[in-house]
Amino acid sequence: MRKILVTSALPYANAPLHIGHIVEYTQTDIWARFQKMRGNQCWYICADDSHGTPIMLHARQKGITPEELIVAMSEEHQADFRDFRIGFDNYHSTHSDENRELASLIFERNLAAGHISSRNIIQAYDPEEKMFLPDRFIKGECPKCGAKDQYGDNCEVCGATYSPTELKNSYSVVSGAKPVEKESEHFFFKLADFENMLKEWTRSGHLQPEVANKLDEWFEAGLREWDISRDAPYFGFEIPGHPGKYFYVWMDAPIGYMASFKNFCNKQGLDFDEYWAEDSDTELYHFIGKDIIYFHALFWPAMLDGAGFRKPTTIHAHGFLTVNGQKMSKSRGSFIQARTYLDHLNPEYLRYYFAAKLGSGVDDIDLNLEDFALRVNSDLVGKVVNIASRCAGFINKRFDGKLSDELSEPELFQQFTDASEAIAEHYEKRKFSRAVREIMAFADKANQYIDEKQPWVVAKEEGREQELQDICSMGINLFKVLITWLRPILPGTAGDAEAFLNLAPLQWDDACTPLLSHQINKFKPLMTRVDTKKIEAMLEASKEDMKAKPHKTAVPAKTEKEEAPTIAFEDFAKVDLRVARIVKAQAVEGADKLLQLTVDLDGETRNIFAGIKAAYDPADLEGRLTVVAANLAPRKMRFGVSEGMVLAAGPGGKDIFLLNPDEGAQPGMKIK
Ligand code: MSP
Ligand code: ZN
Repeated sequence: MRKILVTSALPYANAPLHIGHIVEYTQTDIWARFQKMRGNQCWYICADDSHGTPIMLHARQKGITPEELIVAMSEEHQADFRDFRIGFDNYHSTHSDENRELASLIFERNLAAGHISSRNIIQAYDPEEKMFLPDRFIKGECPKCGAKDQYGDNCEVCGATYSPTELKNSYSVVSGAKPVEKESEHFFFKLADFENMLKEWTRSGHLQPEVANKLDEWFEAGLREWDISRDAPYFGFEIPGHPGKYFYVWMDAPIGYMASFKNFCNKQGLDFDEYWAEDSDTELYHFIGKDIIYFHALFWPAMLDGAGFRKPTTIHAHGFLTVNGQKMSKSRGSFIQARTYLDHLNPEYLRYYFAAKLGSGVDDIDLNLEDFALRVNSDLVGKVVNIASRCAGFINKRFDGKLSDELSEPELFQQFTDASEAIAEHYEKRKFSRAVREIMAFADKANQYIDEKQPWVVAKEEGREQELQDICSMGINLFKVLITWLRPILPGTAGDAEAFLNLAPLQWDDACTPLLSHQINKFKPLMTRVDTKKIEAMLEASKEDMKAKPHKTAVPAKTEKEEAPTIAFEDFAKVDLRVARIVKAQAVEGADKLLQLTVDLDGETRNIFAGIKAAYDPADLEGRLTVVAANLAPRKMRFGVSEGMVLAAGPGGKDIFLLNPDEGAQPGMKIK
């Protein structure tokens, strides 16, 4: 019996799952289910990847703590996984005690072995938010083509790549402030220390050939030191002995595989070291997308090696999902969230379609929705399920659910079972499309058999009872072989088939044992056809999901009411609210959200900065009346002194309404 630990990449606790993710979890789940059916001990482990700047800021934006956000996201992810029948043995979080301990241990061991250095570096810093800014959180004008609002690493308009310091008129996405440069100490993992080990390891059958080739390019480019630390504020683990310094999310994320397994071992009484010790003879498989190969095939084995742990047996990378031949697109409605799919369609359809498309390589796979419907209807409903429905009725009605006591066509059955090992080998090698193709060829064979024997004709003729029972029993037996082979892909349908066939959960070897004199149960349709109207409805719903701001998720946003405690009347009476005329309005150089207003309070002019740029064109404001808090202490801002506050209401962005709120503000909107 092999002992196998298998993982999928840990999804970010920042966003809901989409059907691109489901490719990976389906691929891994099929493989893990297959291994279990083969009688191997196989544990399928995963977790939410809960750390990092985006998660910290997302939580802040929602007015909740990162801890609250990641708990809610994890629940949402797990519900999606469950409904897609992804059968994890354990699902944990990188924000866990186990992970904190293991990350510290791996850091300290590498440090002691001299694989970690530290030095000061200069980075972009948001002086208002007092935080260092990752490239993705800096925007500005492209240094090459001048396009506005481009990210700090590359231009989406002309494709140029550059460093954030090259952006013109750059600003922090977090506050709108202009980033400054600031120095701080960082820790670096010396990847080059592992060059020889990695060159040898990546060529020893642990990777797909095309991935190993890609790594050669990276080796040629040189292995650079990897910055594994981040400064506060950061949502992650503080580095032991270095207050204010945190592990970079990608440092503790893969350690999350170990941490989730450790959590599982503690619950199950399993031996963690048996799987992770340097000399472990268990197998470790990581399924990942092609975008995260660098982290898994270079950093991860090096970190493990440096800390005296075993390295992966196999890293299996897959390609990216496209929909109807194109990158998933929010405007076309093809950015389909896992939950939106589940709201409309049967998860088994998609599992089957992905399996039918997944080979062992890293090619992208396309979900063509027309092909999807045709294929599922023709293969699963038209071929596989059909065999059972053509035979079950006769067995139930005419033979009290009893199958014949011997196979009338043993050679035919033998042809099927002879293929069982070859099909298993395709699963083992992750050539699921090959496996599916061969299984479907046998489904055709089974249907041909029934077509030739015409049980519906035999049933009408007297004295052919035995023949009828034999034909239908043969059909049911062939169906049983097919559903055994398909079980890793279609766990739900196989479960229903097991109930109908009156069988315990099928193991791989059961494919070869015929059911003789066996009692089956009443047949219920195992799968219905794909309804193309539901596909349309799913695409429509996906468009709607994208309109919902910021995205559809169960994560609770703190209600605005909760934020404002009651104040005494005397406190309110202190605020001098006055009507003012906006005499001048202009954009503020370098500020993303602000307008500079000159307001007239009956002879007295004031300069006020208001965060309403997204909602108003300055020209439209001039001459309008509004309400101003006039006795607010003057506030020095980066762009000048603000002498009062303009009152506006609404959720923010484009939806913010100046008072007099005559253009769309709603009762109850919070005054900003
Ligand atoms: N958190 C990291 C992984 C850390 S593993 C220690 C991450 N998360 S992710 O949520 O962005 O992606 C999770 C997995 O889904 C990755 O393997 C990624 O390649 C895969 N996919 C994300 N979008 C995908 C498609 N459109 N198509 C196929 N797989 C996709 O990366
Ligand atoms: Zn450009």
